[in-house]
Amino acid sequence: MINIPKGTKDMLPADSHKWHAVEAVARSVARRYNVKQIRTPVFESAELYLRSIGDEPDIVNKEMYIFEDKRGRRLALRPEGTAGVVRSFVENNLGETLPLKVFYIESLYRYEQPQAGRYREHHQFGAEFFGSPLPSFDIEIISMAHDFLREIGFDGDGLTLELNSIGCPTCRAEYNKALRKFLADNTDKLCDDCKRRATTNPLRALDCKVKSCREIYKSAPSIRDHLCDDCKAHHKAVTDGLDAAGISYTETPDLVRGLDYYTRTVFEFVRGGLTLLGGGRYDGLCESLGGKPTPCVGFGCGLERLIDGAEKSGIAFERPAPDVYVAAQCDGARGECARIVRELRGGGLAAETDIMGKSLKAQFKYADRQGYKYVITLGESELESGVYTAKRMADGATYEIRKTDVLGDVRRII
Ligand code: HAM
Repeated sequence: MINIPKGTKDMLPADSHKWHAVEAVARSVARRYNVKQIRTPVFESAELYLRSIGDEPDIVNKEMYIFEDKRGRRLALRPEGTAGVVRSFVENNLGETLPLKVFYIESLYRYEQPQAGRYREHHQFGAEFFGSPLPSFDIEIISMAHDFLREIGFDGDGLTLELNSIGCPTCRAEYNKALRKFLADNTDKLCDDCKRRATTNPLRALDCKVKSCREIYKSAPSIRDHLCDDCKAHHKAVTDGLDAAGISYTETPDLVRGLDYYTRTVFEFVRGGLTLLGGGRYDGLCESLGGKPTPCVGFGCGLERLIDGAEKSGIAFERPAPDVYVAAQCDGARGECARIVRELRGGGLAAETDIMGKSLKAQFKYADRQGYKYVITLGESELESGVYTAKRMADGATYEIRKTDVLGDVRRII
């Protein structure tokens, strides 16, 4: 027996309706924001991620699935969605009409230690907007994320929007000096990773998960005290816009996110200590990947965490019931059962008849287990009269169905 790789999960048929429901909400919200879908390859040149995510985050350092193909090209399974979308934007010249707004529903790969909400393969619904430096862009992406989560069923209880600004390269340079000094002063108390980050990428240290480091960083200088006037004004306009839109948030000065490409706005929707959705602005990424300078915002929502978090919040995903089961009382009726099912399916209904040679009793049991709304039973007398009976499974009510217009009669009762 060969087992599933560590840190991965099958999506089993019994859970498929949850994924369909979540993806349907994602597509519906995207349509209403006029956001078009994009699909990029599951593997890209490893260099793409090294250059965009930065060389310090764990994702790149420890978690990337990097391999060489038969010609020795260095490739990586995508660990996140943004870099591939930006590569495609630049390569396909998608910036001719701005704004460009795209979404994706994709699988991602990170070599993490599996634990609750952390997998080696996970899926994200993500969106990336290209083209505007204005705060209205940040508000639009947060509003889309917010609508998505609300329509999944989260009503704000236990789900917090954490918001911060991590400044632009100008104010970050000033801040990095203060942070470097703080880290140097505390260096003997830091974990080995943070000792290295203290010189290579001090902001990254603040994202450290080690408890003792987290304690120390509570008294670290805050980026918020070092924002330049433009970044301050931008952040103020974002919060004003969120207030006006009725989207509540918590100012979270120590939120830095785990990827290097962010500038200014960063945000996370958090439930029970786990981030369901995270994103922010990344104004420098297009240019650093060889494109024209293009300001962008985006988010990614982990779908495994989302479904899990939704169920823990008491949100039920309805399983749509199939419409009509057509049961054969005798073998002579099986041909007509198959014809009826073809007619119903042709009319868009979910219909099934026995293909296992089951007894009538077993067919009813199956129809009941599958949650069929109606069962039509065909025996000798029905074949003769051309008049069938549909039984509503919920309450046993019966309806007459004519052979001459099965679809029409079934539509009338459904
Ligand atoms: P991220 O915060 O790395 O951001 O991931 C986004 C979300 O994906 C997380 O909040 C979490 O729900 C889920 N996630 C991440 N890693 C795992 C994992 N190992 N197992 C299960 N779920 C996971 C990004 O990926 C950015 N590309 C988001 C973005 C788009 N920023 C701008 N545009």
